Amino acid sequence: MTHPKWWQSGVIYQVYPRSFQDTNGDGIGDLAGIERRLDHFVRLGVDAIWISPIYPSPMVDFGYDVADYTGVHPMFGTMADFDRLLSAAHDRGLRLLLDFVPNHSSDQHPWFLESRSSRDNPKRDWYIWRDAAPDGGPPNNWISDFGGSAWQWDAATGQYYYHAMLVEQPDLNWRNPDLKRAMFDAMRFWFDKGVDGFRVDILWHMVKAADFPDNPPNPDWRPGMADKDRVLQLYSTDQPEVFAIAEEMRALADSYPGDRVLIGEIYLPYDRLMPYYGARLDGVHLPFNFELITADWNAAAIAKLIRDYEGALPEGGWPNWVLGNHDRPRIATRVGEPQARVAAMLLLTLRGTPTIYYGDELGLGDVAIPAELVQDPRELREPGLGFGRDPVRTPMPWDASANAGFTSGEPWLPLNGDWRTRNVATEEGDRGSLLALYRDLLALRRAHPALAMGAVRRIEADGDVLAYERMQGQERMLVVLNLGAEDQVLNLPGEGWSLLFSTCSGLRRSTASLEANEGLILIKTSL
Ligand code: NOJ
Ligand code: CA
Repeated sequence: MTHPKWWQSGVIYQVYPRSFQDTNGDGIGDLAGIERRLDHFVRLGVDAIWISPIYPSPMVDFGYDVADYTGVHPMFGTMADFDRLLSAAHDRGLRLLLDFVPNHSSDQHPWFLESRSSRDNPKRDWYIWRDAAPDGGPPNNWISDFGGSAWQWDAATGQYYYHAMLVEQPDLNWRNPDLKRAMFDAMRFWFDKGVDGFRVDILWHMVKAADFPDNPPNPDWRPGMADKDRVLQLYSTDQPEVFAIAEEMRALADSYPGDRVLIGEIYLPYDRLMPYYGARLDGVHLPFNFELITADWNAAAIAKLIRDYEGALPEGGWPNWVLGNHDRPRIATRVGEPQARVAAMLLLTLRGTPTIYYGDELGLGDVAIPAELVQDPRELREPGLGFGRDPVRTPMPWDASANAGFTSGEPWLPLNGDWRTRNVATEEGDRGSLLALYRDLLALRRAHPALAMGAVRRIEADGDVLAYERMQGQERMLVVLNLGAEDQVLNLPGEGWSLLFSTCSGLRRSTASLEANEGLILIKTSL
């Protein structure tokens, strides 16, 4: 195979900047904090960090409501802080990706203030304005992802505007060439600075059906499900015109030296996800593969989804895997601590680029947030249904000093209850910690091209045991994961396997058995 690109062989780490490291005592993480902690990424062994939005923003959706695409929120620091962080990251051989939010801006963005100022403002068409339905109600039945109608009445100009997310996040109109140009200019601004790429927020939402038909009702909707799921987002998302935009973004990224990368945030089933690679692999490099986030945690289900994914990938399309992010429950809470170790081995031995969510390398769990401390609009708008995202956005615990070394002030969200022992410093001193496991696995990936770049085959489930092979050149690896809590007898395929690595500490006697909640990597060097 040709020399792999960094975004193929590398590992990405997601930083939620509010919660990573505070340096000025306001209880909120900042850019200087990320810079201070760069060695954490180096010691861990990741290749790139993706930072959730740092732009000026009223923070109604914690930065995903952007008020200036080419600025830095003073809460996070200055542009000079950003430039310093970028060059400090590059000095250490780390790539830095930003979060680009093209679907919507903040309602406080100057573009929207202009757009809403009058019907004939030149920027009116930069957003999506429609007349009321004949009965005066919203133009169609589309529902916001945060619940309620996705249309907001604007009395001053007598029309509705569309917001797929919050009322404070009006959707941009990508069918307008001037808007499109302005957004590409924003991407260019950061690429010119040397940013290594973008994670593109809700890429599949960017274009809506031109005639805005009603979405069909969802026959499977039941009370307790999210309001947005009352309808199927057939016309409001995933329109064919979006691929041309992805291609243009890709062309822009490719026009820069140094392998800039685009990662698309797309929650779609595999058959509808794959077109985002582009018909000629000229779409986004990595359409996020989120299936492990919701997978049933059993060997058969995971074997099936790996096979389905591998089978659905377009020729030459590079895979990727994700266990968690700032929107979804944490892996340690979903599968429990013993299985979090198995999950780490799964993430870091599957074929494809892994993305690690900050704190998952410590086994951080969801943190229960008392009602009076809830911050997330998702929870505030549809309380009690389990959609709130604060529990997965709590401060990174660094050590056992006050506030876990995160801040000298009051943290914006409470720390994990077990921060005195579950923190970076403590886990660093413990060979049996999850952090040590992540480091070991990342080092193994680097040492063994079969793990980073090799083919995958024989993806099989047998009871609680999930197994697959990775191979490259003369090297063959067998990954065996016990997704259950009972010891297992191992039936190895053929002779000649020797033990390379186990997720369990302690001396291992043979390759004939697998302990409860254990993952193994076996190796064979002659084919
Ligand atoms: C997806 C982001 O990951 C999420 O945090 C945000 O609320 C929505 N997009 C809206 O931008
Ligand atoms: Ca701060």
